[in-house]
Amino acid sequence: MRIDMRSDTVTKPTPAMRRAMADAEVGDDVLDGDPTTRRLERRVAELLGKDAALFFPSGTMANQAAVWLLSRPGTEILLDAGAHILHYEMAGAAALAGVQVRPVAGDPVLDAAVLAAAIRPTSPHVPRASLVCLENTHNGAGGRVTSLPAMREIAGVARANALPVHLDGARLWNAAAASGETLATLASVADTVMVSFSKGLGCPVGAALAGPRDLIAEGWSVRKRFGGGMRQSGILAAAALYALEAHLPRIAEDHGTATLYASIVDGVANARVVPPDTNIVMLDLPGSIDAFAVVAEAARREVLVTPWSSSRIRAVTHLDVDEGAVRMAGNVLVEVVERMADTLGHLSS
Ligand SMILES: Cc1ncc(COP(=O)(O)O)c(C=O)c1O
Repeated sequence: MRIDMRSDTVTKPTPAMRRAMADAEVGDDVLDGDPTTRRLERRVAELLGKDAALFFPSGTMANQAAVWLLSRPGTEILLDAGAHILHYEMAGAAALAGVQVRPVAGDPVLDAAVLAAAIRPTSPHVPRASLVCLENTHNGAGGRVTSLPAMREIAGVARANALPVHLDGARLWNAAAASGETLATLASVADTVMVSFSKGLGCPVGAALAGPRDLIAEGWSVRKRFGGGMRQSGILAAAALYALEAHLPRIAEDHGTATLYASIVDGVANARVVPPDTNIVMLDLPGSIDAFAVVAEAARREVLVTPWSSSRIRAVTHLDVDEGAVRMAGNVLVEVVERMADTLGHLSS
């Protein structure tokens, strides 16, 4: 049995989700509207406590639309040095919105003090800042939750400098479940919020951008410009509506299996896990063991995880891996790392 823990995006739609998609009432959403998509957008706006929401084909496009809507060309946007918008969106902020992305190194993620120190006084010699982007949970920091008080402090610094805030909440579902805060409370710190349906919620595709009514109305044209106008989008929106009902309430189960996996692999050959807040587990290997080699050997044994760097391995729990599978994957990782540590010890002795 292959166990795929590379990402929470690898889930397959369940039979019930597929039925919901097949039964969806649809229209042409570019022409004159799709009723199921409208229902999803109303539901997301309600959950996030925002005026309105817009359905997008991907989180990347929704993030980029937010950057486009909230920033100005020739300015800089400030975000955490490990942010998805910086590393994995194909320089979209520069190419599409014409902004300079300025990474701010947090420890481990952006906080109010480092943001305040990074905002430069107005000067004819440096670009003005026009936007702050947050990410919660933070993927690169191992599914790290930024607490509500910490988010409020960051937003306070942004507001004091007249900067709007966009929240990349691809995994805000996990942040809410882990912190005990509601989605709307977490979203309240930001002007716009992106949420993704294709990660912890198990949908095949889709994200939403929520925010003030006039901005989201403008987002309609931005999405179209980016090539994201979708016709019978209700088929996809139905999957998301189904997931909000059936999968959102169980998302904390993924945090439990992540903790289980972490407890199995922590300490093997002196490797250390970053204790997981949510469903992402980072395993840091000692310098002599190559993460790429471990991942390749684990894959030969039907366990798929991601080499995050040459010394760090990422594993993600999700709907399609239960406790038994996660335990099996952890044990395989332990065996592979132990064998490599033995071989290296043997070679150096
Ligand atoms: C934190 C974060 N933001 C944005 C995205 C982009 O989402 P998508 O893959 O739907 O473009 C991802 C995807 O992994 C992510 O982890």
